[in-house]
Amino acid sequence: MHAEYGGVVPELAAREHLRNLSPVTQAALAEARIEAAQIYAVAATRGPGLPSALMVGLKAAQAIAFALRARFIGVHHHEAHLYSPWISDKPASADFSRFEPNVSLIVSGGHTMLVHVESLLKHHVLGSTVDDAAGECFDKAGKLLGLPYPAGPIIDRLAEQGNPHAYDFPRPMINEPHDDFSFSGLKTSIRYFLRDHPSLLGDRKAVGDLCASIQAAIVDVLVAKTIRAAKRLKVGCITASGGVTCNRSLRKQLAEACARERINLRLADQSLCTDNAAMIGILAEQRLAAGLEDDNCDQEILPNWQLA
Ligand code: KG4
Ligand code: ZN
Repeated sequence: MHAEYGGVVPELAAREHLRNLSPVTQAALAEARIEAAQIYAVAATRGPGLPSALMVGLKAAQAIAFALRARFIGVHHHEAHLYSPWISDKPASADFSRFEPNVSLIVSGGHTMLVHVESLLKHHVLGSTVDDAAGECFDKAGKLLGLPYPAGPIIDRLAEQGNPHAYDFPRPMINEPHDDFSFSGLKTSIRYFLRDHPSLLGDRKAVGDLCASIQAAIVDVLVAKTIRAAKRLKVGCITASGGVTCNRSLRKQLAEACARERINLRLADQSLCTDNAAMIGILAEQRLAAGLEDDNCDQEILPNWQLA
């Protein structure tokens, strides 16, 4: 639906959420084989994110909690990503008995950040993107290549046939000592390159090489900075989540680099890389158990909520 517009249209997203919310809730209850009355607590994302979409989820969840006299927990979207690599799918459940302090890479269409997770529920942000997110860079590069939105998965597929060394795109901030990222310069360099070589777009082999070379530039930066942060902090575990973690080259290169450095790697399950309710529920469960939540059925959305 959003592909037609080349990106997410907030108003359309909110309407679809409203339309899907009730059937999805019914389906989740049926799948879990429980009655609504058995629900002890209801969780929803409070932020950050698109206000209209957050509003639908948060207010519906609060209404359900109120009607069921259940607890309500408003969850931080990025904090939930931090724990998604510890969840196994079908049925979604988390095993934190083997939890290790880690450096967590969250990488999606809206965010790119490195977080030091010192212990369960204790973390601090090391760095984040100063402009575009990595997924946004995949999507914008794809648009320049004439690919539909979201282009990340298509670039991943086309890159398989391509040569990652065919074109030399910049690796922004790869050697800078801080943990921030920047991807808008890479996007601009792709734009100028294609402006100067328009005939490449009609050549299948060249498009494959371009996809592989663009992907390599993004993945090199993500892998190098994540590994460097873990080594600097002497942390023995790296985790990754967010839509871009579906990227096969990123998964492979992280695995190879972690093996080389003897760092444990935990990648979110493919089905749980993108935004999902399991990670929201599982974080809420942990926060409730730790006594970190007050009952608050009238919380408002926080579209710009920063991870502490
Ligand atoms: O986490 P997500 O579903 O939504 C948010 O942005 O919050 O991530 C979507 C992003 C899009 O930019 C999409 O192009 C990218 O993840 N993405 C990928 C792949 N699958 C999804 N990027 C590269 N390779 C992929 N296989
Ligand atoms: Zn997300």
